[in-house]
Amino acid sequence: MLEKLTELKQQIETALSTAADIAEVDALRVKMLGRKGEITLLLKNLGSLSPDERKTIGQKANAVRDFVTQSLETARIRLEAEHLNQSLLSEDMDITLPGKRRKLGRLHPVTTITNELESLFVSLGFDIVEGPLIETVRHNFDALNHPHNHPSRDEADTFYIAGANDGYVLRTHTSPMQVRTMESRTPPIRVVVPGMVARNDDIDATHTPVFHQMEGLVVDKGITFSDLRGMLDIIVRYTFGEEASVRLRPSHFPFTEPSAEVDISCYACGASAKKPAREDCATCKGTGWVELWGCGMVHPEVLRMSGIDPTIYSGYAFGLGTLRITSAHYGIPILKPYFENDVQFLNQF
Ligand code: DAH
Repeated sequence: MLEKLTELKQQIETALSTAADIAEVDALRVKMLGRKGEITLLLKNLGSLSPDERKTIGQKANAVRDFVTQSLETARIRLEAEHLNQSLLSEDMDITLPGKRRKLGRLHPVTTITNELESLFVSLGFDIVEGPLIETVRHNFDALNHPHNHPSRDEADTFYIAGANDGYVLRTHTSPMQVRTMESRTPPIRVVVPGMVARNDDIDATHTPVFHQMEGLVVDKGITFSDLRGMLDIIVRYTFGEEASVRLRPSHFPFTEPSAEVDISCYACGASAKKPAREDCATCKGTGWVELWGCGMVHPEVLRMSGIDPTIYSGYAFGLGTLRITSAHYGIPILKPYFENDVQFLNQF
């Protein structure tokens, strides 16, 4: 039996050294290790030997079996590699052809503009904070000094989650984070709040039920309207270029007093102090100004309700329409495409 084993070992060595393909290796495996393979049968017959013989021959038989298993595997790997090399070199495959390009996504234009604005504010010493999209009626309206009959509370404008005037809403603006910030921090406060807001407002292509804002809030001792004005100048020049200018128009927001609407010189026709507006400009309608956002001095009542003493501190706030800034920046007059996930649209930015 020992001779037989040595013979089998030699046999497999020769056979494998000349084996030309994987099929041959597989056939050898069956011949040696299959159910009726030579080594298998030999191992089965060990039982008929005396205990002493069984021990020596058994050890040798197992070693030969392991050797054969290993050699078959090595031969298979070698033949597979050879096969792959051959097919790569054969004429029907051109390995110099460029590979398939993997499509990479990109940032949504609103995200790009938000990031740019954030880096401006960080450089000016602001913190970036974010708040919940589902907001309490108290934070969204009450603590921002909205009287109970304020039109924006109307269910026609606001998405209520549980019953009107109590419970929760999809926040209609980023201003509730003014309240949350003042409730949780002590002045000096300097934050901006980027985020999505929702309103029941889908009347035309320039309105969408969700859009993006960036709220700003500064509270400290001795903050005045001229601090606000200076900050608006910085934001507008950074966003629209050195030539751009700001015009403030008196307005009303329940949570600021005084309040103003911020207009900027028309980015579409390039109107400025030196250059008149184009009469037929569709963006500014020939006025030279475009209304972009709201601002004001934080109402003393809002400070008080949020736990800040209005006799010691004052503050200003502004609400930038990030989506409008994005549209102005890229010259896109309608807002719907931002929310349609159309790759052909998004690929342009
Ligand atoms: N929250 C207002 C809106 O969505 C915008 C706004 C106006 C924000 C004046 C402010 C502000 O911070 O001071 O219409």
